[in-house]
Amino acid sequence: MTTPENKTGQPLVHLGITRPEELSTLFAELRGRFDADCACAHDESSWKQFRDAWLGRKSGVLTQITENWLKPATLGLKRVVGASLNELRAHVESQIEARRIAIESRGEESSLLRERIDLSLPGVIRPIGSHHLIRQVFQEIEDIFVSIGFSVVEGPEIETPYYNFEALNIPEFHPVRDDMDTFYLELPPSSDKNAAPTPLLLRTHTSPMQIRTMEKQKPPVRVIVPGKVYRRDNPDATHSFAFHQIEGLAVDTDITFCDFTGTIEYFVKQFFGPSVKTRFRPSYFPFTEPSVEFDVSCPFCGGTGAAAGGGTCSKCKGAAWIELFGAGMVDPAVYGFVNYDAKKVSGFAFGIGIDRLAMLKYGIDDIQVFFQNDVRILRQFP
Ligand code: DAH
Repeated sequence: MTTPENKTGQPLVHLGITRPEELSTLFAELRGRFDADCACAHDESSWKQFRDAWLGRKSGVLTQITENWLKPATLGLKRVVGASLNELRAHVESQIEARRIAIESRGEESSLLRERIDLSLPGVIRPIGSHHLIRQVFQEIEDIFVSIGFSVVEGPEIETPYYNFEALNIPEFHPVRDDMDTFYLELPPSSDKNAAPTPLLLRTHTSPMQIRTMEKQKPPVRVIVPGKVYRRDNPDATHSFAFHQIEGLAVDTDITFCDFTGTIEYFVKQFFGPSVKTRFRPSYFPFTEPSVEFDVSCPFCGGTGAAAGGGTCSKCKGAAWIELFGAGMVDPAVYGFVNYDAKKVSGFAFGIGIDRLAMLKYGIDDIQVFFQNDVRILRQFP
C-alpha cells in the first residue's frame, strides 16, 4: 500500500503553500493517492490497514491534516483547508465503507460457491430390504394353515430336556436321542428355587411346543409353530447347526387318520400346486403312533422321474417322489404328560423342515446360502 507521503506530516508553510488556490492541487493529489490505495484493499486485513492509515485517530492521514495543516494555518488559509478537509473526509469515509461492504459480500459469495449444492447430482440410493426367503416360506405356509383354522404360536429356543425330550415320550437313554445330538448350555448354578432345571439346551425341534400348548389349553387345539431349531450337525450342503421348522398339532375329540392325511394333502397341493400327488410311508417317532413320512410326487418332472431332455430328473434322482416331512397321530403316551384323557381325544402332528422345502421349491442346492446372506442371492427373492 502506498503510504501517504510525508506532506501531511509538515505544516503548509514548510510546503511553501501560502495562497488558498494552491490548496486544491494538494488535496486533489491526496484524493488521488487515497483512491489508488483503496483499490489495493482486496481482503479484510489489507482493508483494516488501509482504514487505519487514513482514519486512525493518532496518526491517520486525516488527523495529520487537522494537526499539521488546519490548526497552524494562517487565517487566510484556514477556511479553505477546513472546507477541503471536510470534503476529503466525506469521500474517505464513504469509500472505506463501500469497500468494506464489497469485500464482505465477495466473502459471502465465495462461501456460497464453496457450499453450493448441485441438485443435478444423483442422490444416495438406499436399497430397500425384503423378507428373507425363509421368512417368505414361513409366511406362505402360515397363510395356508391359518386359512383352515390353525393359529400361529411361538415358543422358546432355549428348552428344558423335559419339553424337548421326556414329555414327547423320549426318555433319557432312548436311542432316538442320538439323532438329535444337542447343544447343552453351561449356566452357573442358580440360587433361585423356581429357576428352570439345568441343563438347558437349544431345542432340537419345534415339537416341545406341542407339550407347552396342550399344557395351557384344553382341546380343541389347532396350532402351527414356526421357529428356529438347533442340532450339533456339521455344516454341508444339506446340514446346518441352525435351521427352521414348522410344527403342526391338531387335537380334538374326533380327529381321524383321514382328517390327518386330508389336511396334509391340502397343504402340499397349496404349496406345490394342484397337480402334485402325496403319499405316506410308515416311519417312527416316539411321540406319534402310527408315524409316517410324507412324500410329494416330484413337482419338477411331474412325478415321472425323467428329465425333460432325457435322462433322470436331477431333483428326485429318478425316484419320481420326494421325501417331505415326518408326521403321525399323536401317541396316547404324550397325552399322559399334559393331563389329556387319551381315551377321549385324538389328533395328529407334523414337523416340516422349512429350509428343505424352500430349497426344493426355489431350486437352491446348498442350505448354507440361507445363513450367508449374500445380497446376490437375497435379491433374487425380493
Ligand atoms: N420333531 C421331528 C424332528 O425334528 C419332526 C416331527 C415328526 C414332528 C413327526 C412331528 C411329528 O410333530 O409328528 O425330527
